[in-house]
Formats: sequence, structure tokens, C-alpha cells
Amino acid sequence: MDLHVVILAAGKGTRMKSALPKVLHQVAGRALIDRVLDSAATLHPATTTLVLGHAADAVRAHFGARPDVRVVIQEPQLGTGHALLQSAPVLREHSGTVVLLSGDVPLLTGASLQALVQTHQEAKAAATVLTATVERPYGYGRIVRSQGRITRIVEERDASAAQRRILEINSGIYAFDLAPLFDALETIGADNAQGEYYLPDLIAIYRRKRRVVATYTIPHAVEIRGINGRSELAEVSHMVRQQKNEELMAAGVTLIDPATTYVDTDVEVGADTVLYPCVFLERGTRIGAACEIHSGTRIVNSTIGDRVVIRNHSVITDATVANGARVGPFAHLRPSAALGENTHVGNFVELKNTTLGAGSKANHLAYLGDATIGSGVNVGAGTITCNYDGAAKHQTVIEDGVFVGSNSTLVAPLTLGKGAYVAAASALTDDVPGGALGIGRARQENKSGWVEKRKRVSSNLSVDSSKGAKAV
Ligand code: UD1
Ligand code: CA
Repeated sequence: MDLHVVILAAGKGTRMKSALPKVLHQVAGRALIDRVLDSAATLHPATTTLVLGHAADAVRAHFGARPDVRVVIQEPQLGTGHALLQSAPVLREHSGTVVLLSGDVPLLTGASLQALVQTHQEAKAAATVLTATVERPYGYGRIVRSQGRITRIVEERDASAAQRRILEINSGIYAFDLAPLFDALETIGADNAQGEYYLPDLIAIYRRKRRVVATYTIPHAVEIRGINGRSELAEVSHMVRQQKNEELMAAGVTLIDPATTYVDTDVEVGADTVLYPCVFLERGTRIGAACEIHSGTRIVNSTIGDRVVIRNHSVITDATVANGARVGPFAHLRPSAALGENTHVGNFVELKNTTLGAGSKANHLAYLGDATIGSGVNVGAGTITCNYDGAAKHQTVIEDGVFVGSNSTLVAPLTLGKGAYVAAASALTDDVPGGALGIGRARQENKSGWVEKRKRVSSNLSVDSSKGAKAV
């Protein structure tokens, strides 16, 4: 039987109080809507339809082109029942089952969705509601049953005091038989506290028409946690991170303090790596085995090899670090920084679009931008590649085995040939051939007896100035 998915994401998300559409807010590095699409994809649906409305352009821009997702627009947004009706142009000609997901319910697993579909198809139901029994049902629609069977769903705002005590809630996730769906949706009214067309009202409509309505009660209620405000966003993010940390520890990663270790869902970490407290590993990052990542470090979309030590408070973005390297404390690796094997990058060193060859060292206070640096190079403290002339960026090439003395200014474009030396405090504007010493600074001059002479001059001055004045 054909299976289709519709995701509702047209609402404003008023309770977020945000300029960003709710479904673009992130949980552990992944937007809510992407998480819901991931869950949907586990069903291998024939079609997936996204109902957008509020800030539709922003949501669409987030996706770019996705031929597997059809977008329909709900304008104005008159409620969840009205929202599902907007998918009629895409789905009316189809038959089979449609699974309805909510763009703000990001934790559903494929297994739960499978169970929902199975219950629905076995019961030959017109509608199957995914429900959960929770301790704090506040804010959710309640499942009203009579003689054990669901009769209707009542929203928090419309519920009586007795109904508010019901602990079984509507997840907002359903399976529907497509055949009667759209005709029935058109009969939903808006006579409720919000004046909206409530999709849950379909349940009472079906029961009155004696159509089969089933429920599937999910065993792990956390999966249907919906995000309405920032507090729920934080709670759900916390749960997702906790789960991720458990998985990492099960895979042999040491977390000194899981409560303060922040790892995005898609991050990979090898066995025997130690993550210290207050480490942030963000989207797309891969860390090898037996590394140490010390406190205060943030790594985004970067690949770190094996046995790498990242000392405290380093920031690494869109960079790669090969096996055995040592980075930090206080290092800044910016996009396209590539550290070779066993390299050392120390405190207050910044690299951008720069390759550092195997075994090379830049241990203190340097800016290396748009540079290709060979192996066995020593970059002295205070070295600066002057890569930008105010209009364009230029390359610096430092070949194997070069020694750059401290506080050197390398004005690009510039090449330092293999094994060359740069005298400390040089300002170089011309290439240095391989094996040569480049010196670019004024020659030192020593003025003998200068200090004595200066003392004599200044003591004469103070005698003059003390006439009639107080000595200082
Ligand atoms: C809804 C259910 C409630 C359930 C809860 C579970 C209704 C009336 N209530 O309440 O029974 O317990 O979900 O989380 O359905 N949307 C649209 N167009 C609209 C209105 C909403 O696309 O016109 C989308 C929203 O963007 C959101 C989803 O539908 O993704 C749910 O809407 P929301 O306003 O969050 O409903 P709840 O009050 O949470
Ligand atoms: Ca909601």
C-alpha cells in the first residue's frame, strides 16, 4: 500500500518569540525541520509534502533544492485541519496511508512511526492517533475515551477541569486513510477557543460516522516532545545531547563530565579520546582515536586525526588536523587551515587557508594566512604573513626546512626557498632563495657612552628647574 508523509510547518511559532521560523531552530546542531524529515525518510514514503506558510521563503531557502520534498503553502494559517487540507492538490489522486508529522516534534524514531503505520493498517482504520501517557499533560490535546475507545480529542484551552486531568495526550502525529480524508477535513468547524480549524476534531467526526479510529500509545513518551517555546527547545536539546554522550561513552570515549560536554548529533569521536568539561564539538566534526580535547575548546565542521592534543580554549572551524598534532592553548584554526602530522601550533597562533607541513611548528603568537608551508619548518614567535594589501589576498610559500626568526613580517606574495633562514625582526618584501639568509631590517648601531652623557644633560636641567621650585 502506498505511504505518504505530510509535515505541518506553516505556523508562526508565536511562543518562540523569534524572527527565525520555529522549524529552523536547532537541536544539537540540526534544524527541527531536518530532524523531522530524517524521521519521515525512514518510512521510504512515495511522496513527502511540507506545508509552509509563515516565513515560507526562509524555510525554503534553508533547503535549497530538494526534489524529494513537495512544498504547499497555507496562507493564511487557520489551524492544523486547514493546514492538512492544503496538501489535497498533491494527494487527492493518491490512495493509501498518509502519516502526518509536525515540524515541531523532532525526536520521533523510525521504529515508532513503523509501529503507528502497522497499527493503522492492521486496524483498517480511517485514522490512527499516536498518543502518549505523561505526568505533565499541560498544553497538549487530551485523549477522551469512552469504554476504552477514543471518542474525541479536546485541546487544553477547550477542556473542562475533569478533561484536564486526563494524562493521555495527543502527539499531533497521525496516520490517515487517504480515501475519506479530504472530504472529511472540509467538514471541520472553527468553533473553539482559538477560532481555528483543529485537525484533532476529525476524530469525533469519524466516530460519529462510525469510521474506525485507532490509537497507538508510544512506550517512550519523550519521543513526542513538541517544541513550542525556548524552554522546551533547551529541554529537548539537553535530552538529545545526553543521548549522544551516552552513545559516545558506549563507544569508548571518555567524557570527564558528560553534563558539560556539548556534542552535536552528527559528530564522530574515536575510542580512547578524552573530552574534558566544556568542550563543544559541532556539526560535521570528526575526531580520531586517542585524542585529548581540553576545556573551553570549540570545534566546528573539522576533521581531527588520531592522537591529537587540543589544549584549552582553542577554536577550530572548517579545518583539518592530522595525526599526532598538538594545538593550543588559545589557538585559532580558521577555514581551510590544514595541519600536517606531528605539527605544533601554540598559543595565540591563527591560521587561515594555510597548510602546515608535517612536523612544522608555529609555537607562539603568529598569523599565517593564505600560506603553503612545507615540512620541518620553524615559524618564530610573532611571525606575520601580510596576505592582504587592502584589495587582494596574496600567497606566501615557505618551503621545507625553512627557519623564520621571531617577529618577522612576510609581505606576500613571497617565497622562502628550501632551507632558507629569515633573520629575526625582518620585514621581507622579496623572495629568499633556498639555503640563503634573508635579513630585512636596519643595521644596529651602538652609541658608546650615550647613557652617561644623557645623565649629565638631564641633571643640569633639573638644577636649572629647581630655582625657586620644589625639587621633585
Ligand atoms: C497540536 C494539537 C494538540 C497536540 C499538540 C502536540 C491541534 C489543534 N492541536 O497543538 O492536540 O497535543 O499539537 O504537539 O492540532 N500548523 C500549521 N498551520 C496552522 C497551525 C499550525 O502548519 O494553521 C503547524 C505548526 O507549524 C506546527 C503544527 O502545525 O508545526 C502544530 O501546531 P501548534 O500550533 O504547535 O499546535 P499545538 O498547540 O502544539
Ligand atoms: Ca506544537
